[in-house]
Amino acid sequence: MYKEILKLLKCPKCNGELSLTVENEEDCEVVEGKLSCKGGHDWVIREGIINFGSVEQELANNWTESYEQYNDEDMEKKLSEVPQNQIIIGDKAKKFVIDNISHKKSEFILDIATGRGALFREMVKHLKAESQIICADLSFIVLKYDRIRAKKTNPEAKVNYIACDATNLPFKDNTVDTAVSFCGIQNMLNMAAAGMKEANRVLKAGQSLLDSYVVINEDSKGFKMLKEFCKDNKIIGAEEFTIKTGIRKAYAQANFDNIDIITIGESIGEKNDLDLLPFEGEWFAMVVVECIK
Ligand SMILES: C[S@@+](CC[C@H](N)C(=O)[O-])C[C@H]1O[C@@H](n2cnc3c(N)ncnc32)[C@H](O)[C@@H]1O
Ligand SMILES: [Zn+2]
Repeated sequence: MYKEILKLLKCPKCNGELSLTVENEEDCEVVEGKLSCKGGHDWVIREGIINFGSVEQELANNWTESYEQYNDEDMEKKLSEVPQNQIIIGDKAKKFVIDNISHKKSEFILDIATGRGALFREMVKHLKAESQIICADLSFIVLKYDRIRAKKTNPEAKVNYIACDATNLPFKDNTVDTAVSFCGIQNMLNMAAAGMKEANRVLKAGQSLLDSYVVINEDSKGFKMLKEFCKDNKIIGAEEFTIKTGIRKAYAQANFDNIDIITIGESIGEKNDLDLLPFEGEWFAMVVVECIK
């Protein structure tokens, strides 16, 4: 972490101010240390990452399990086995988000549910000297590898890695200049609406959230199957974040204004063993939602 983000942070348990103890600092980055509040909560900083004690998802993205099976390089190969049409549309969506944020002046850009950093890896290449990125994800281990890769890509970039729950971010209200997410909020499943509300809380007034989604048709066979899947896996309501009407409604309920759903590309789903969406043989689109607090 970089000391500049201290003014944004609060204890996620008691909302108290946090004070920093530095044990090891390299090139102004606090690599080892801890954050403590007056309520007696200590949060360790290890390998450059602040660990707020979040626990990975059970149903998907259990990165600790994946890293027991594969090393970072093998994981990269495995995850690149995504159909070409999805890669092309995904790249367009990332470019759209990055072009958009590059026109804004931001001190702090929050990437919600960074995962393996498909968006973050591109953002870090283009990061301006006056900006810092904050990567937030439930998984400590995924952030650890994101940090190692980003240091190679752009050693000058100031990035803060925070293992935390994006439905209870360790940030004070109105502190973040821009928030982005690349299918991250969608991957929060039935917690997506809570994630949107939390993004709204931490954003400064008048600032925007740019978030991408894979969307499908509400009257498709796939949507019916997905609804069943969500019911069976006790994530009822997660299917709403795969249709435009559901997404728009949730952003409005999270108090966002000027909700614009921009279609980046559309195609027909191909066989894909890695992702649940899109469904093989069915229409899908990738959209970017731009909305303002
Ligand atoms: C598939 S990734 C999203 C893709 C990613 N944004 C990218 O650019 O590559 C989904 C991520 O969401 C994270 N996630 C899910 N629920 C979360 C939550 N409540 N808070 C923070 N991260 C969460 C998971 O740990 C996982 O890393
Ligand atoms: Zn506390």
